[in-house]
This record gives sequence, C-alpha cells and structure tokens, in this order.
Amino acid sequence: MDPIQILIKDLADKHGRSRESLLPIIQGVVEQENYLSEQSMIEIAREIDLPAADVYGTASFYSFLETKRTGKYIIRVCKTITCAMKGKNQVLFAIQEMLKIKLGETTPDKRFTLLETNCLGWCHKAPAMLINDEVYIQLTPEKVREILSAYMKQNNNNNH
Ligand code: FES
Repeated sequence: MDPIQILIKDLADKHGRSRESLLPIIQGVVEQENYLSEQSMIEIAREIDLPAADVYGTASFYSFLETKRTGKYIIRVCKTITCAMKGKNQVLFAIQEMLKIKLGETTPDKRFTLLETNCLGWCHKAPAMLINDEVYIQLTPEKVREILSAYMKQNNNNNH
C-alpha cells in the first residue's frame, strides 16, 4: 500500500467511517501532508465509502484545498455569521497586524498561512479559529496575540 493509503486507513480506523469522520480524516491528512491532494481525496472517498464529490465539497467548504503552498501553521478563522457577529473581524485584524500578512498570504519565513473558513461548529463559543487541527474559541484580539506568541516561541525553540 502506498503511504497515503496507509495514513488514510489509520485515520479511518481512528475516527470511524461515517460522514462525521470526514472532517477529522481530512484534517489528519493535511496535518501529515501539509495539503490535500486529489489522490488523497479519492482515497478518503474510497476508504469511507462516500462519493468523491462529497469529499471535495467538504474540503472546499472548509478551505482545505488552497493549502498547497502554505506555512507550517495554517490559521483558519471562521467567517460564518455567529463568529462574524462576535468580533471575528477584530480577531482577524489582530492576526494580520501581528504576522504582517493579509488573508490568503503566508509569512515570508513560511511559518504561518492565514485563511478564512466556514462554520467550525463552535458557534456557541464564537469567535473560533483553527491552527492546523487545534481549535481556539472565544477569541479576542488579546487572546489571539497570546496564542500566536506561543506558536512563535515554540517554533523558535524547534529551530535552535
Ligand atoms: Fe463560527 Fe459557527 S459561526 S464556529
């Protein structure tokens, strides 16, 4: 079996093979591979017995398809209504200011990519974002700055 098939099989064993497993499996693949290839989508569809179009639909809904050339950490800020009403823009602004990039961009050192996504299912604790597959909720500009500082430090430590 090729490594992608093994990875997807392991993820399906871990998360199950129902429709609800789709997002965690996609996240697991992106975490390993840094992006979601067409081959991976076809393989996921085969493994959990869903139409490939459904996998593609979910991946594009959550913006997992634009991740080919991205940073080590992919930040996805929820742009859907509850988060939008609860201060998503201020959070986004704080991130942009701190990383000095705009939406859709990657920092020159390739550490961070900033994207938006649709509802992550954490509306009751909005605003929410993902960094890779980690969920962060009830965000404020202050909180997001703390979170990003921790990532920056972590990365520095890894490099030295
Ligand atoms: Fe943002 Fe649902 S609207 S998590």
